[in-house]
Amino acid sequence: MQTINIGLFGFGTVGSGLAEALCSQHERILRRSGLSLKLTKIAARSLSSLPPQLAGVELVKDADALINDPSIHIFVELIGGIEPARTCILKAIAAGKHVVTANKALLSQHGKELFAAAAAKGVEVGFEGSVGGGIPLIKALKEGLAANKLLAVMGILNGTANYILTRMTEERLPFAEALREAQRLGFAEADPTYDVEGIDTAHKLAILMTIAYGMNISPQQIATEGISTIEPVDIEFAREFGCRIKLLAVSRDIGGAVEARVHPTMVPTAHLLASISGANNAVEFCGDLTGSIILSGAGAGRLPTGSAVAADVIDIARNIAAGAVGRVPALSYLPEQIVDRPIAPLSALSCPFYLRITALDKPGVLAKIAAILSGHGISIESVIQKGRRENEPVAVVILTHTAKEEAVAAALREIDSLDTVAAPTVRIRMLGEE
Ligand code: HSE
Repeated sequence: MQTINIGLFGFGTVGSGLAEALCSQHERILRRSGLSLKLTKIAARSLSSLPPQLAGVELVKDADALINDPSIHIFVELIGGIEPARTCILKAIAAGKHVVTANKALLSQHGKELFAAAAAKGVEVGFEGSVGGGIPLIKALKEGLAANKLLAVMGILNGTANYILTRMTEERLPFAEALREAQRLGFAEADPTYDVEGIDTAHKLAILMTIAYGMNISPQQIATEGISTIEPVDIEFAREFGCRIKLLAVSRDIGGAVEARVHPTMVPTAHLLASISGANNAVEFCGDLTGSIILSGAGAGRLPTGSAVAADVIDIARNIAAGAVGRVPALSYLPEQIVDRPIAPLSALSCPFYLRITALDKPGVLAKIAAILSGHGISIESVIQKGRRENEPVAVVILTHTAKEEAVAAALREIDSLDTVAAPTVRIRMLGEE
């Protein structure tokens, strides 16, 4: 029986989940692969000892102790962040080690460099744990959908944001309290602005887009808006319009260009993505052969993400044993086939819009707003105004028919400059027949 040795750098939430997965499933993995996967060393600076279940695993102080150990086949990086993760991974690759990481920030910003180094050295890089926690999204794209042209990839990729929106919807909690809860539950990023401002979602979308479309893309090319401007009143109006607000990542291959955007979205309740609650994630892949496929499940957490990282370790171990390293290209396409493609500007988008205008409650205000919208070719589907506060600001909510992003932006510039409009208009795109 062949043994594959694993060195783990980082013993936080996901690291401890991986260790548990490899130890508790050792026999099952052996029955499935014929291989003994042995976690031999863990590098964790802040620990003085390992838990008793990991007796036999050596605790070392730094990543060099793993990189310089010739018996280690697979180097697993789970410390997160850009440095020292990037340097350690490059050193591990240079030392001929295969690499597994769940580091979405690093891959989305420095993936090109890391994958090129790995290809030059003939080692594998696994990164299933970087997107969608325990959901095997990357394997589905790289292998299950290998015969398809991907037409669209869209979904809920941040558990914290989805948890906050769910708690605001179901329990009517204010944003800040829902965020505090998510932080207590342990799936928020160290810097929660990554979760609530859509940055983490953009990192994950960039990774999925590279594999789906065989293209280079950095998170900076993705138009990104977060959920921190969403107020309970928007959640209530969304309910009245038969929708739920979700932080969606959306990409579509629209021919020459590719759409790439992350923003709060009104999702009709009949759509499956509207029913994804709590910290769960869900992604819809549209293949030209398969049509729509939706995968959903735990998007974060110790054991789900530990399971995804373990799956990469098993894949690489199998390839080593079969003499088939590099059988599936790391990014699904051959490195030389990964191309630059133009990203469609957000201004070119068309979809229905939700507009919450804070306007003075007095005669003629709505007529003026309607005239501005119609002047920009925007047609109104419905209007709601709740309550009556004469000459005071009230929320006037307008749902438009499909309209051009550019036209809506121009109309809102005019509307927001009216002296009867008291605050910037909140605008949420609706999932429609874009
Ligand atoms: N902060 C991330 C989330 C963790 O909330 O989804 C998983 O990547």
